[in-house]
Amino acid sequence: MISGALKAIEKDFELSERDLRKIIKGFHSEMRAGLSGRPSSLRMIPTYVDRPTGNERGEQIAIDLGGTNFRILGLTLKGRGRISNYYVMRFTLHKRDITSTGKRLFGFLARSLKKFISTNKIHTCKKINLGFTFSFPVKQSGIANGKLTAWTKSFSASGVEGNDVVALLNAALKKEHIYNIRVAALINDTVGTLASRSYSDKDCYIGVIVGTGTNACYVEKVNNIKSIRRSGKNTGDMIVNIEWGNYNKLKVTRYDAKLDKESNNPGAQMLEKMVSGKYLGEICRIVILDLVEKGALLGGIIPKKFKQCGYLAGEFVSQVLADKTQYLSGIRRLMCDAGVRDQSLNDRKTIRKICGIISLRAACITAAAMTAVITKIDPKIKNRHTIAIDGSVYEKLPEFANNVNAELRKLAGQSSTRIRLSLTKDGSGRGAAILAAVPAG
Ligand code: GLC
Repeated sequence: MISGALKAIEKDFELSERDLRKIIKGFHSEMRAGLSGRPSSLRMIPTYVDRPTGNERGEQIAIDLGGTNFRILGLTLKGRGRISNYYVMRFTLHKRDITSTGKRLFGFLARSLKKFISTNKIHTCKKINLGFTFSFPVKQSGIANGKLTAWTKSFSASGVEGNDVVALLNAALKKEHIYNIRVAALINDTVGTLASRSYSDKDCYIGVIVGTGTNACYVEKVNNIKSIRRSGKNTGDMIVNIEWGNYNKLKVTRYDAKLDKESNNPGAQMLEKMVSGKYLGEICRIVILDLVEKGALLGGIIPKKFKQCGYLAGEFVSQVLADKTQYLSGIRRLMCDAGVRDQSLNDRKTIRKICGIISLRAACITAAAMTAVITKIDPKIKNRHTIAIDGSVYEKLPEFANNVNAELRKLAGQSSTRIRLSLTKDGSGRGAAILAAVPAG
């Protein structure tokens, strides 16, 4: 019974090489549509910034907001790709900070910057350019402005959607009597990651995040970006924020459909809902519940806590997959914590298998999406490509990075030797600080 039910689930989540090639093709056509302003699930947002040259210099500060934990950092750019004097402070936003009003949210950011300034004894009379990493979809018309299109990742503070987040932050800084620091660059975390790696690696044209959310950016010819072409600037390169989390031409299982229906943004961010840390635990919970209801797991007794949406976090999947003990004692502990005392080794093996299936699918989709972006830049993969990547899923989910690499090898064949994934920790903030030093073009 159990193996039959599990096999069916495995089949539901399985993506064949053909399916993955379909994703690559679908990505190419959605990327082209997005770039030329036609309807597309890929927003293809122009960022008004190119990669840094590596020669930028000076003291910089950045605020990096992408989830409930945000960071403020300072560094000195020394030119020739060198960085020194790196210091960082971490802050935590509470649920009410991200779900009540924009005033509260930006006020918190400004007060945190004030703390950062006094702790690190930063001059209050010298003019300082601030890099602002804001990892949500924004519509930009220049490097230092951007209107939030729609909140993602459970943020819902009012008065922000449709408004310029740079103006909101600058106003909050003024309110806190911070007069010498102004936002000079608004960037996405993927853009920061790309900028951070490419400051010292000239083969890097792609930045990827697989963490709480997932997304990527890459360097595109300005001539291929319709909205920019229209403004008269049609030479050179520009980083484009793909917002790939919203890609929606994917094989959807009934588990994904349930998760989507119960989410706070039904119909949106479908790829993100299959890949990112915010959702992996929830898919797992839905699948476990289904097997229990079918009487194929935990003796058919539904653990009370498992009925709660969002009860299992992404870390659950990581911890389950990290358990290499003979009797899966780590999983036993996790299940006991969830109030499940009555469990067999077979139950634990099943749970482990479910987590493996869900995480493998996430890696396959990530590899296909990466291959699509590489081949958009370089169809025959003739050149070397470093993919700057960061995020808790990529860094911490056991086997995820290996699975992505293995799938890349399948999809790119021989050429995969020219592709290198490079973990770029904290690149999102560092990149914002670097880009704040790039003169506006
Ligand atoms: C979400 C955001 C996107 C961000 C990604 C990773 O998908 O919409 O802007 O880059 O999360 O943090």
